Amino acid sequence: MAIIAPSLLAADFLNLSAECKMINESEAEWYHLDVMDGRFVPNISFGIPVIEKLRKASNKTFDVHLMILEPEKYAEAFKKAGADILTVHIEACVHLHRNIQQIKSLGMKAGVAVNPHTPVAALQEILQDIDLVCLMSVNPGFGGQKFIHHTLEKIRTLRKMIDASGKNVLIEIDGGVTIENAPEIVAAGADVLVAGNTVFSASDPKAVISKLKSF
Ligand code: DX5
Ligand code: ZN
Repeated sequence: MAIIAPSLLAADFLNLSAECKMINESEAEWYHLDVMDGRFVPNISFGIPVIEKLRKASNKTFDVHLMILEPEKYAEAFKKAGADILTVHIEACVHLHRNIQQIKSLGMKAGVAVNPHTPVAALQEILQDIDLVCLMSVNPGFGGQKFIHHTLEKIRTLRKMIDASGKNVLIEIDGGVTIENAPEIVAAGADVLVAGNTVFSASDPKAVISKLKSF
């Protein structure tokens, strides 16, 4: 059974407290919070003050996905705002190992996200230091895109790498996850499913979360 992480990027921002109530009552374990800077990705989303407010609405795990350059400048602020897991992009970090040590020293779990074109082999020398790999199954920046099928191969390869390492690193899949493709994503070896539009555009989001959870 996968961990389900609804992505608030697809939520109704005019009714965020109702959206939080829905997630809190659902079987989703995590909130997935997408932060974009308009530099690393061609879009800008929400940031620290919004996460600070959301923190008051839920005790669930806050999985913060930073799609920003120079994440070291903001790691402490995200910790203070309530992040439990802080994920940075391998493509955005010149000194990734240092970024990971900073996140852990601030008391958060550390994740590394990789874009669709980045080989999972690039994670080999950082796997022992992290808690989560976020495999992007779309190009980051926007919700509602189509799942890139090749990601399934990357999941299988990464699963083997993690199993061989003996470390407990979670594989999270982010982008284009649907009720239809979730079973094969989980079968390939994913532990965490991020879902934005699939959850928030559903007429019964809690039922969709239960369904995703059942795979
Ligand atoms: C994309 C974000 C995703 C996105 C997923 O840049 O990282 O988390 O919100 O949305 P869906 O599930 O709609 O593809
Ligand atoms: Zn994300």
